[in-house]
Amino acid sequence: MGSSVLIWIFSALTLALLCSSQDFVPADNHLINCGSDSDTKVGSRVFSADKSDSKLLSTPNHVTASTSTKPTPDDSSPLYQTARIFDKPSTYTFSINRQGRHFIRLHFYPFVFSTYNMSQASFDVSTPNHGLLSKFTVDGIKVKEFSINVTSSSLAITFAPSANSFAYVNALEVMSVPDNLIEEGAISYNPKADFPGVVEQAMETTYRVNMGGQLLNYANDTLWRTWVPDDEFLLGESSRQTINNVRAVTYVSDGSTEEVAPRSVYGTASEMASAGTSNTNFNVTWQFNVDLGFQYLMRFHFCDIRQNGSLNQLVFDVYVNSLLAIKDFDISSTSSNVLGAAYYRDVVTPLISDNMLRVSIGPSNQGSYPDALLNGLEIMKMNNSMGSLSGSAALSPTKHGSKSKVWAIIGAIVGSVIAVFFVVCLLLTFRRRRQQEAMGHSKTWMPISISGHSHTTGSKFSNGTAASNNLQYRIPFVQVADATNNFDESRVIGIGGFGKVYKGVLNDGTEVACKRGNPRSQQGLAEFQTEIEMLSQFRHRHLVSLIGYCDEKNEMILIYEYMQNGTLKSHLYGSEYPSLGWKERLEACIGAARGLHYLHTGYAKAVIHRDVKSANILLDENLMAKVADFGLSKTGPEIDQTHVSTAVKGSFGYLDPEYFRRQQLTDKSDVYSFGVVLFEVLCARPVIDPTLPREMVNLAEWAMKWQKKGQLEQIIDSSLAGKIRPDSLRKFGETAEKCLAEYGVDRPSMGDVLWNLEYALQLQEAVVPGEPEDNSTNMIGDLSPQVNNFNQVDSSVSVAPFGVSHIDDISNSSMSKVFSQLVKSEGR
Ligand SMILES: *[C@@H]1O[C@H](CO)[C@@H](O)[C@H](O)[C@H]1NC(C)=O
Ligand SMILES: *[C@@H]1O[C@H](CO)[C@@H](O)[C@H](O)[C@H]1NC(C)=O
Ligand SMILES: *[C@@H]1O[C@H](CO)[C@@H](O)[C@H](O)[C@H]1NC(C)=O
Ligand SMILES: *[C@@H]1O[C@H](CO)[C@@H](O)[C@H](O)[C@H]1NC(C)=O
Ligand SMILES: *[C@@H]1O[C@H](CO)[C@@H](O)[C@H](O)[C@H]1NC(C)=O
Ligand SMILES: *[C@@H]1O[C@H](CO)[C@@H](O)[C@H](O)[C@H]1NC(C)=O
Repeated sequence: MGSSVLIWIFSALTLALLCSSQDFVPADNHLINCGSDSDTKVGSRVFSADKSDSKLLSTPNHVTASTSTKPTPDDSSPLYQTARIFDKPSTYTFSINRQGRHFIRLHFYPFVFSTYNMSQASFDVSTPNHGLLSKFTVDGIKVKEFSINVTSSSLAITFAPSANSFAYVNALEVMSVPDNLIEEGAISYNPKADFPGVVEQAMETTYRVNMGGQLLNYANDTLWRTWVPDDEFLLGESSRQTINNVRAVTYVSDGSTEEVAPRSVYGTASEMASAGTSNTNFNVTWQFNVDLGFQYLMRFHFCDIRQNGSLNQLVFDVYVNSLLAIKDFDISSTSSNVLGAAYYRDVVTPLISDNMLRVSIGPSNQGSYPDALLNGLEIMKMNNSMGSLSGSAALSPTKHGSKSKVWAIIGAIVGSVIAVFFVVCLLLTFRRRRQQEAMGHSKTWMPISISGHSHTTGSKFSNGTAASNNLQYRIPFVQVADATNNFDESRVIGIGGFGKVYKGVLNDGTEVACKRGNPRSQQGLAEFQTEIEMLSQFRHRHLVSLIGYCDEKNEMILIYEYMQNGTLKSHLYGSEYPSLGWKERLEACIGAARGLHYLHTGYAKAVIHRDVKSANILLDENLMAKVADFGLSKTGPEIDQTHVSTAVKGSFGYLDPEYFRRQQLTDKSDVYSFGVVLFEVLCARPVIDPTLPREMVNLAEWAMKWQKKGQLEQIIDSSLAGKIRPDSLRKFGETAEKCLAEYGVDRPSMGDVLWNLEYALQLQEAVVPGEPEDNSTNMIGDLSPQVNNFNQVDSSVSVAPFGVSHIDDISNSSMSKVFSQLVKSEGR
């Protein structure tokens, strides 16, 4: 009996949820059936009559029109049977209860009424701040949708006939949309930069496409939008296959929402045909016609709905007009980490100078499984600098003559940019060839040529591209000296074996951490070079970013993003930083695990950090963790080998005993060190503390003893006492224990560790109800232990072309503001 009640409650709840998710209730919802004297129901919505004495309308001269012809024989929409015709400029004024973003939809269907042939009407439509349409004519049924952030208590929409013509409209919608529909975070790809201010933009929906799916109309969309299939835009139907798996779609707190796009959009996709086979060296491409002289906001909707999604990690590139718009997009590493999570990216185009947008998706050379997919695409025209969405001469002061002048200038600029580009390419090619000749095929670990150190000879990359690409990171010494006030001692934020770390501020206000090496330290030089090479290739939000380096005058200076909150270690013990709560510690561990997981798997050859420790995990202003200090990193074994043989390096207390014994390095050595970090985080004490009684000196040994006894809670940081849920602690302890397994083969991969930590966080969260803020990392879903199917990747092309983009990394909200500090508190 009890269980049947439960089932009843459950179904009632489910039903309630289902119903509520169907209905977004707009605060402002003005629906007008123009020219009609009775209310009209369309689906669940009622379009009100628009009587001649309507208070909404101010117009000197208007006509209501009606027809019995239908747009199409089976079209039952009554909206198109009536219209209101204006001979003079006329304005509808709507009261706005809730300021913010609104959709304006204008419905047009031209018919003939009396002496008015609506197919011949020509008119402008505008709001006080934005021109919407100009010299507009329609010859078939048409719905124009605009999205405007209304910041006043009313909204006026004016219809103004062109000379000797008239205006009309069949129906009007003004409705509030959710605040989070358009949010900051858009990235412009050319030039590559944040694009702040989208929330203020007026937009026109130019295309809204349900990739690989059917036509969806108001009945299928919580915001009554229309989504069209992608077939008509595809170039080469055979390049894609459609997939349909609506059940796989999951909305997660840091991803998309049902209002952003419905399940039926995320649940279908166009995927590369023959995905995963060797026959995948092509792109899937769509083409859209757009207007000259505007910028477009493109919203890409992604959701990994593939049957075997968990087996084959999806990493691909997105191009717009042949430029990389999203590089190495990895759905699984988006913040959600849930397979089937609905997710979107906003990308802003440059001013359109050619009437089309060509969108391509294709496999990335960072991926191990060649595949690409797209679930939905919205293309929205943004207002121009005059605030207008229409190319009207009336609304823009640009006269025809000056317009062509503008185009001539643009032409000249584009021309010279292309010319410069070619020259640069030529120079680079030339340089590369010379370097290749100079270095022969020697494979050493010294990646770049540093002035004043002529012994530096080769690159581990046989094609030498790393060397030439790194040049763009070079920063003049005077600039570094400037930024650090001539290496003022008061700017020192850390000291290590390599040298001192200074806080600096670049000319543009960017805060940086400058790590200045002791001159002529040979070990330092190798590490310096490795660090530049690693950081310039690996860009990830959980890896600290390299901003530049300086190698003038025997200097070895590395310039990083500044990380406000210093090292993870300093938040655990031995400093005045406040200690972190359990959730914050878990999140820091998860962030670091993500960074390491990326290093191990994000590249054809695993990269082994070799110096994982709490002092090398830095925290930004939001306490987001990033892995730092790649001076000792090495690329790991090729597929056919199992380890790298090397002299033992790393930090005492964190060293993998197997590595120590056999001098053979695998990614499992990092896993071991990370296990030590986990215990350090839990116990908040140094990994080696000689002042303690003998059995306690080595944290790894000591903690393992308690873990094996099942009494880990006895040794946790006292400030966490009573704040960790037993399940969470158990999961955490088990994870750390597995990391510290004697033999590398018995240790989990970083992907497994990541999953387990996320699970531990989930277990912790489960007990703290009503914490609405926790939206960042508490997702579970195992996507990681990916098949390391690396043989499909051509390693000769594996040098990341970081010169081009990495837009997806920069899009991380914090990235633009967050800078890192490199504190080396332990010398080597
Ligand atoms: C209305 O105008 C359209 C476009 O100019 C024309 O093709 C059509 O024949 C006209 N209809 C009538 C009834 O005049
Ligand atoms: C509307 O624009 C204002 C700034 O003019 C901004 O503060 C607000 O967040 C925007 N609202 C929405 C819903 O985008
Ligand atoms: C869209 O809505 C119509 C009407 O409710 C329904 O018949 C159709 O199945 C829906 N399509 C999808 C893909 O959900
Ligand atoms: C998924 O994987 C299984 C086993 O590897 C395979 O038989 C099946 O064809 C795959 N399905 C798809 C849709 O790729
Ligand atoms: C995909 O398109 C981009 C941009 O046009 C191009 O650079 C790239 O080479 C194409 N990839 C393939 C495999 O054709
Ligand atoms: C849109 O108009 C606003 C002023 O209304 C302007 O600040 C903004 O730059 C315009 N957007 C673009 C992309 O030009």
